[in-house]
Amino acid sequence: MTKRNRSGKTFTAPELKTLLGGIAPRQFFKEYWQKKPLLVRQAVPDLDRVLNGQGLFDLACRDDAESRLVRPVGSNWQRQLGPFDPAALARLPKRRWSLLVSGVNMLIPQGDALLNAFNFAPYARLDDLMVSFAPPGGGVGPHFDSYDVFLIQGLGRRRWEISGQDDLELVDDCPLRILKRFRVDQSWELEPGDMLYLPPKYAHNGVALTDCMTWSIGFRAPSAQEIATEFLVYMQDSICLDGAYADPDLGYSQRPGKIPPLMVDRLKDMIRAIRWTDRDMEDFIGRYLSEPKPCVFFDPPAQPAGFKRFHKLANERGLKLDARSRMLYLGGIFFMNGERLEAAHGMQTELRQLADRRHLPAGEFDEVFTSLLYEWYRAGYLTMA
Ligand code: SIN
Ligand code: CO
Repeated sequence: MTKRNRSGKTFTAPELKTLLGGIAPRQFFKEYWQKKPLLVRQAVPDLDRVLNGQGLFDLACRDDAESRLVRPVGSNWQRQLGPFDPAALARLPKRRWSLLVSGVNMLIPQGDALLNAFNFAPYARLDDLMVSFAPPGGGVGPHFDSYDVFLIQGLGRRRWEISGQDDLELVDDCPLRILKRFRVDQSWELEPGDMLYLPPKYAHNGVALTDCMTWSIGFRAPSAQEIATEFLVYMQDSICLDGAYADPDLGYSQRPGKIPPLMVDRLKDMIRAIRWTDRDMEDFIGRYLSEPKPCVFFDPPAQPAGFKRFHKLANERGLKLDARSRMLYLGGIFFMNGERLEAAHGMQTELRQLADRRHLPAGEFDEVFTSLLYEWYRAGYLTMA
């Protein structure tokens, strides 16, 4: 997909063949994914034309962006959260700091195009695009991420050191997750366009050799604890149990402070009566995976087209999902931004196409289908292509 940037230059997300350095996607998943690092030279050329340091500074000053500034202070590290004041960023020293902005895929169209170039993995696994800027000596220190990451060199040069070490102990009392010990196994200098893939928990340290920008494609890997907590929160709303505690057989209490064993047994039975079905779990999974992050807000159109005009334009131009929208499906059930939709059979092909390609080409959409699309258009979930 080709996107025009603010300076008028275009960015075309690379073809899969270029992105994976000629490795077939099946081979990538078999040999590298979650298994071992992969360095691809010239995987994503031209990123330096999309955004420069000033462009990233501008994003870091926006209040709809998640940004942070990181720098070493003595033997510790300091982390400041954005949004930042442009004057404060202009006063930063010439060396050894790093400014990072997350969710860049939701801030610039080229970021959305780049993130979606990685849809050889399912959208349910793709998380977001983070972009960092660092002057010489800058970086976020030796660390590991708990998810897979593709680190793409946008601008300038950076040395990446990596380690397959099992020792993942972190420095105590540090606002950043810094490894206590880091034993370098391999290192490379990345030039603009080069890309390094790292599996989860692979230790790494990137140090800027010149003014440098790194674009990181991150993946979602929720912890078992998070899934359990979120599922129980979900069940709280969907559970519906009859009856209440009763004890017509209760006797006189000589030790009123003691919880009666009979009461414990009956309460345990009430807890054991909590059940969930495959349908509950699948509904939760679809809603949970399609739920936008809490910091995401949609912008409904300020002057929405009326239904008739929308229908005409949608048929003529097609539609595309907003960069913030998460649309997924499980069989014939669709999930749009945390909402469930059981679609009529006749709509399913188009809805799958919208979820897979994130756009619908011009067509002849019937009234019922268009009403659904219109609702999503009014909510800001999709726009005219
Ligand atoms: C960076 O862009 O400096 C950090 C990216 C990472 O190590 O995951
Ligand atoms: Co990292």
